[in-house]
Amino acid sequence: MSGFRGRDVLSIRDLSRADIDLVLRTAKKMVPIAVGEKRSRSLEGKILSTLFYEPSTRTRLSFESAMARLGGRALGFSGSEGTSVQKGESLADTVRMVEAYSDAIVLRHSHEGAARLAAEFTDKPVINAGDGAGQHPTQTLLDLYTIWDEKGTFEGQNVALVGDLKYGRTVHSLTYALAELGSHLIFVSPETLEMPREILEHVKERGLSFRVAHRLEDVIRDADVVYATRIQKERFPDPQEYEKVAGSYRIEVDMLRDAKRDLIIMHPLPRTTEIAPEVDRTKHAVYFKQAFNGVPVRMALLDLILGGGA
Ligand code: CP
Repeated sequence: MSGFRGRDVLSIRDLSRADIDLVLRTAKKMVPIAVGEKRSRSLEGKILSTLFYEPSTRTRLSFESAMARLGGRALGFSGSEGTSVQKGESLADTVRMVEAYSDAIVLRHSHEGAARLAAEFTDKPVINAGDGAGQHPTQTLLDLYTIWDEKGTFEGQNVALVGDLKYGRTVHSLTYALAELGSHLIFVSPETLEMPREILEHVKERGLSFRVAHRLEDVIRDADVVYATRIQKERFPDPQEYEKVAGSYRIEVDMLRDAKRDLIIMHPLPRTTEIAPEVDRTKHAVYFKQAFNGVPVRMALLDLILGGGA
């Protein structure tokens, strides 16, 4: 049995290389179940709570789909309207209640550190589904799965992370993971939205080289993976600062002329204007497949945490 049983997943940094390998290999085996070709009852009788204080489409629904595909059930809320949060109930008390109703808790919250705080108030496993501008570890697992599935390796891949590197939690988690896995990172952002210094320091400490750029056109021909992100409007303290950088990057079909033939373009979604719809029809676009990969990856994680594991 793996060391996942009953475990919290709060930060990608809590997972070792062996843990990540196990999730990816287990996810691959889950694909036939995720597409409905095979059946599983491995989580029959298990209940997952999904507490989403912030909006979500992919993360919440793919967790629900993952539970249903494995014979378990999910319950929860999307937005705190209609819950006792509106009466002033604290996160700690909500978690204390919900642990009595379910076997694991998935939490999305606007405050960085919320999932770690929640985990202090329950013995049930807590999975961080995004905490403010902090981390989004299950997104990273599905991002890693996508790179591994498409490229077969992380080693030596030139991965350009593009857009809002300051507030984007998906790129924070992904940088920590890729720094362990031997990819070469290219950080492309407006000057005001660069990757936080402590994360760059971490990459340096791991002995990896990286580049910082401000124009996607300057790096696209070197990239094996372009990971585009939305400018996180909701995290800007000053709306005028957002207006200065809104629409900074947009991938158009013309820009792909000089790209490597096997370049893949990823995006955690939702997108706004970062990728022109015409790009969807190119062989480079993998972002909808990436979103699907959230189902087998979350199935793998839930099965390892709540079920028999691999
Ligand atoms: N990628 C992602 O977290 O999407 P949602 O906000 O729709 O869950």
